[in-house]
Amino acid sequence: MKKKIVAIYGSPRKDGNTAQLMDRFLQGVHQNRYVQGTDIDRIMVAEKKISPCRGCRSCTKTGECIIDDPMQQIYTQLLDADFIAVATPIFFTTVSGYLKALIDRCQRLWSLKYEHKKKIVTKERSGILLSCAGSGNPKIFDCARMVMRSFFDVLYVGYDGDYVFNQVDEKKDIEKKTGALESVFDFGRSRHFANLLP
Ligand SMILES: Cc1cc2nc3c(=O)[nH]c(=O)nc-3n(C[C@H](O)[C@H](O)[C@H](O)COP(=O)(O)O)c2cc1C
Repeated sequence: MKKKIVAIYGSPRKDGNTAQLMDRFLQGVHQNRYVQGTDIDRIMVAEKKISPCRGCRSCTKTGECIIDDPMQQIYTQLLDADFIAVATPIFFTTVSGYLKALIDRCQRLWSLKYEHKKKIVTKERSGILLSCAGSGNPKIFDCARMVMRSFFDVLYVGYDGDYVFNQVDEKKDIEKKTGALESVFDFGRSRHFANLLP
């Protein structure tokens, strides 16, 4: 059966640095000779109009989110995924607001897991973070990493690691970063990636 890869594009900038990283990773996946076939679900968060979490705690009572928006379909995509790749620029030391809205709405899944004690995912799966930041501060990705770990934890997704690049600011700067695009391509094409799939 084909493996489902969910690719979350977190930047509002079309064809920006993080989108280039994701595209190159997916090209690697496409060429991976150890994987039989893949279905790739691309989620462009800036096009989705995902409402922020209202903190109403309805999910605590019912296990459902009362907000009727694209997140209802995204829950299913996240739960069905065999691998989740998240690409985000660093905005004010963390993930983009668009992506944070999606993550906060996973409070419903947190509630199912920890309050309702429901096993919402049965397969072992993994995920990665791809990110770029303008500054040269090596700690600039720390906060995004923590956010991503808690997002993946709720989804029963193992954090396989990240590919993060700083001093990448203008569009296409990532192309000037030696080895950056190659590294994500090589990961997508690797046996290691294939072994991560359930
Ligand atoms: C609203 C906004 C906030 C940003 N905040 C930071 C920041 O806190 N630290 C940093 O290093 N870069 C920051 N940047 C720079 C972006 O992380 C950088 O330009 C990145 O390459 C953009 O990726 P993209 O092309 O995928 O959107 C910010 C950019 C914007 C537009």
